Amino acid sequence: MIRSKISGVGYYVPDNIVKNSDLEEMMNTSDQWIKERTGIEERRWVDNDKLSTSLMGTYASESAISDAGIDKNEIDFIIFSTLSPDYYFPGSGVLLQRNLKIKEVGALDVRNQCSGFIYSLSIADQYIKSGMYKNILVVGSEIHSGGLDKTPRGRGVSVIFGDGAGAVVLSASDDDSGILSTHLHSEGKYAEELALIKPATTFWIDKIIDDENEDGTGYSPVMNGNFVFKNAVIRFEEVIYEALKHSSLKPDDISLLIPHQANLRISQYIQKRLKLSNSQVYNNIMKYGNTTAASIPIALKEALDENKLNKGDILCLAAFGSGFTWASALIKW
Ligand code: UT7
Repeated sequence: MIRSKISGVGYYVPDNIVKNSDLEEMMNTSDQWIKERTGIEERRWVDNDKLSTSLMGTYASESAISDAGIDKNEIDFIIFSTLSPDYYFPGSGVLLQRNLKIKEVGALDVRNQCSGFIYSLSIADQYIKSGMYKNILVVGSEIHSGGLDKTPRGRGVSVIFGDGAGAVVLSASDDDSGILSTHLHSEGKYAEELALIKPATTFWIDKIIDDENEDGTGYSPVMNGNFVFKNAVIRFEEVIYEALKHSSLKPDDISLLIPHQANLRISQYIQKRLKLSNSQVYNNIMKYGNTTAASIPIALKEALDENKLNKGDILCLAAFGSGFTWASALIKW
């Protein structure tokens, strides 16, 4: 059977660092509150009009392609995951294809928020295992900053999110390393617990213009933070165990867990539940905040740069977020 493995990884984050103390000036918050409740110390927010979601994804992709040691025209397919696309349509995947100046390969956009990267990896894995494609670019890129409510009203959400992009090349494996399994879930009854509602077809522009009660709310993300947190810790643990069971492995067999960077307290809770050591879990939310679809590939690249993964290691990726959706991937490195 053909296996697919991650053959290259890259990321890009904007230069502009926004510290918690900068947010204190904008909204009624404090460095202490943000650090205690989320672990975040700073995040990157785009500060110029030239950077777009697709352009950041392009920079991350160029780095991943170079890391894979292939020519960009060896890419057979693009999967672009984002909740903050350049346009309502077309998707950012085609813009990435244009930016990379590569041949006319297929480009698919995935909209699964914080789980988007693992969903995308899972799709790519199936295409490679079926023999249809050899090298697939899997990208997660987000610009949250422009859409956040930076007044005191938005403080429960806006302090968390950061901008960034990460990408991997998934290739047909030439040895026994590769993706062992992926597991995907959703529970749509909680769709509005973490969402950005307007404008979309439920509140389409003509309805908004005609609505005399329109008060300007719903244009930035809303989150029932506590409820999301409680569901996240349950689903993270469940989906990691599901992956381990599928391969007859135990938590102790995990060499490195990279959880989606939603909240340091969530990562620490999972670490405790699975009885993992500090060296078995990688977190970088302190520097970047929650970059949704980009958080896992960014963390993966940093973990690799810090020599946290060796050939043969078991890498576990897990995510939970808006939808609700959640997912895991178990990979033999
Ligand atoms: O990536 C997708 C998945 N997302 C997540 O997993 C996020 C999950 N949720 C969370 O991470 C946490 O719920 C938050 C970090 C969003 C919030 O932390 P919390 O401990 O659940 O706080 P809370 O919402 O229960 O609010 C506690 C208090 C409230 O004040 P009172 O009512 O106790 O007086 C809030 O008004 O903290 C207040 N608060 C803030 N204070 C200072 C909320 N946001 C802020 C803020 N700065 N930014």
